[in-house]
Amino acid sequence: MATVVVATGNPGKLTELKDYLQTLDWTLALKPQDLEVEETGKTFIENARMKASEVAIATQNWAIADDSGLSVMALGGAPGVYSARYGHSDADRINRVLRELGDEPDRRAEFVCAIALARPDGTIALETEGRCPGAILTAGQGVGGFGYDPIFYVRSQGKTFAEMTPTEKEKYSHRGIAFEQLLPALKQLEMDI
Ligand code: IMP
Repeated sequence: MATVVVATGNPGKLTELKDYLQTLDWTLALKPQDLEVEETGKTFIENARMKASEVAIATQNWAIADDSGLSVMALGGAPGVYSARYGHSDADRINRVLRELGDEPDRRAEFVCAIALARPDGTIALETEGRCPGAILTAGQGVGGFGYDPIFYVRSQGKTFAEMTPTEKEKYSHRGIAFEQLLPALKQLEMDI
């Protein structure tokens, strides 16, 4: 059974990844705590590649990394790769997006999740980007989820991410879509690791 290091220090993310990758015969491990990886990329996929490569080289193991965020069309793609740093709290970040959008009629947005898998030498073996299209409401709706979930409305489901059950969000979210896209290639690769 191969060990794949998850390029995150966040145990919550490790649990989430284990869930998405439960059909694979891998042992997932957290990256060493003292190994800091900067997110200096201009795109989600650049950040995912960078994190996976650095952690793979440092640990001499296969490594998987993801990077995600919200992209609002009328804000030129913001908050984008700055999604986590757009304010000091979830409420702060939501209010900033709502303030910047104002009464702009074009409310189109998307959540993006980029995932990259690096070999022990740091080269990228697999990568993908999952996207979930939606619209930014003028006020939050729902209490589930985290981050920007209450203001992100998914038209095809008639609800926000914060109004979805965890199972629904897993299915329709950018992260769920990205893992679904990646899974067949990951299964194939499992034989070689
Ligand atoms: P990261 O992938 O952990 O760097 O996430 C970046 C940031 O994007 C998070 O801190 C959230 O603010 C936002 N984000 C990513 N995915 C979601 C989601 O599914 N719902 C709400 N916010 C999200």
